[in-house]
Formats: sequence, C-alpha cells, structure tokens
Amino acid sequence: MRHLLSVDDLDRADIERVCDRARSFAEVGRRDIKKVPTLRGRTVVSLFYEASTRTASSFELAAKRLSADVVSVKSAGSSVDKGESLRDTIATLSAYEPEAIVIRSPEAGAAALVAGWTEAAVVNAGDGKHEHPSQALLDVYTLIDHVGPLDGKRIWIVGDVAHSRVARSCIRAFLTMGAEITVAGPPTLIPRGIEALGCDVAYDLDGLGEADVVYALRMQRERMRQAFVPSLREYAVNYQIDARRLGPRQLVMHPGPVNRGVELAADVIDGPASLITAQVASGLLVRMAILYEILAGGERPRPLSTVRPEASEDAPIGEPA
Ligand code: CP
Repeated sequence: MRHLLSVDDLDRADIERVCDRARSFAEVGRRDIKKVPTLRGRTVVSLFYEASTRTASSFELAAKRLSADVVSVKSAGSSVDKGESLRDTIATLSAYEPEAIVIRSPEAGAAALVAGWTEAAVVNAGDGKHEHPSQALLDVYTLIDHVGPLDGKRIWIVGDVAHSRVARSCIRAFLTMGAEITVAGPPTLIPRGIEALGCDVAYDLDGLGEADVVYALRMQRERMRQAFVPSLREYAVNYQIDARRLGPRQLVMHPGPVNRGVELAADVIDGPASLITAQVASGLLVRMAILYEILAGGERPRPLSTVRPEASEDAPIGEPA
C-alpha cells in the first residue's frame, strides 16, 4: 500500500492484513516501555486543517510508538492563518523529507491532491464529506474483536449520512467484509442513490430490531448550510438511539465526538452495549498498523532486522526475540 486515500483502494485481504497487524500491536501496549523501533529515523507529518481529538492524537501516538519523528501542524496558529496555500504548505513540510503525511481537510479530494505533490506516503485522515478510511478500518477491527467475522452481520448506520465521510468509508469497508448494511435517517439526510453502494435504506427505525450493530452518526451541524431537520428535538424523538430502542444483544458504535442527547442517549453512550471507548482504543492500534503498512510493510524500504531496540528489552514486532 503506497497511500491510504480511500477504502475503495482496499480489498478484503488488505483490510484483514491491517487488522492482523493491529492485533499484533496490542501486545506493545502492555509492555513497560510501549515502543518498537520499526520506524526509527523516519519522519511523519500530521497536518490538520479541521478539528480533531481522536484521529490527530492517535496518529501522533501511533507514530511515536513506532519510534518515528513526528511533526504536528494544525492550520490554526500556522502560516495557513497568513494565507499560505495547501500546495505551498505541502512543499514547505516536504522539505523535511517526511516519509508520511497524515492530512485532514474540509475539502473532499485534498488528500489525493497532496499525494500528487509530495514524495511522502499520504494518509487521508478525513477529507470533507468524502472519506475517513482509517476510521472505517478501526471500526472493522473493533467489530471483529467483539462479534467475530462480519460475514452476514447486519449493521444499521443511523443519522446524518449525507454529511458523513465516516458513513461513506464504513459502508464500503463493512460490505467488503461481508456485512449487510442498512442506512437509516430522515430523507433529507440520506443521499439519493446511496443504494448503489450496495446498502438498503430506511427512513424510520421500525426495523432496527434486526440489527446486530447500530452505528450512530453525529449530526454534523458545521457542514449544514440549511435546516435539514425541523429541530434537533424532533430529530431525537424519531432517530435517537436510546435504551428503549435497543435489544439486549445489540451493540452500539459511534465515531465520536457524540452530541449527547441528540443521536445517542446518555444511557446508551455509557451503557454496556456501547463500543465507543473500544473504538478509540482500537484507533491507536489500527493507526500503528496503517503506518507500518505504508512505511514498513509490503516493499519494506528498510529491513526491520537492521534496527535494534534502544530503550525496550522486549522483542519488537517483526524481529526475533
Ligand atoms: N472520529 C473522528 O474522526 O474523531 P475526531 O474528529 O476527534 O478525530
């Protein structure tokens, strides 16, 4: 894998390989010194043009756990505030000869553009309403961890599908892994023609009981340029996932951040059906696996056996003890 731009570029074997790699990294997190030397001497740039807590922090921590040097740039407070263009920003940061650039942008297609402007491998950490592939990979990993293989599992994705890059990536990834997908929400928030991706559509939650997993989406008010629902209160009455709507065996996911009391009720967020914290924990492992895959997997630019651990006595991933 040269870049991670879209789930469309991944087949089932690719997703399974990333998940297997992520699983192997879980052991690193249990060590006293939670580091392996795999990416020592490599530089990872994290460039965020939009707010982020989970994605930015987990990519940064993932790179550090792999011993990479990390440069984190947020558009606010950088020379972007002085009018520097994306292309010039990439040219500037590319002067450090990074091996990878992780980028989040409000513009669909930004990551793909960046991939054409730099020698670095590019990871799409969310581009507008388009895609959020690392979120989809961590969600697949989390689900397999909790319910086993996704073949035949029924997943309902509920809420603001229209503005959700998470939905677009997750639908593709879950289908690739054999799940059956229904997207549900008010007609104004379900894109016309989304069935072409291979999912079913529902405009109410009457059939929610069939779902093994309910994946709630955030109401993305920052991307709404008009009123898509009469009010959040009315939206919550019709589409909020609360304990009364869930059966005892159903699991709940959400990419975060959650609008508490809008798409999810507090009793569900904090209840036993919630995988939300597990998703965040998986994010670190899966993003380690993504960086490994693009920088040390496949063609392996540098044999792992040429680097030895400095601080850790534990055997690093990919090396003999
Ligand atoms: N799920 C997600 O992308 O969260 P952040 O915006 O906090 O990164």
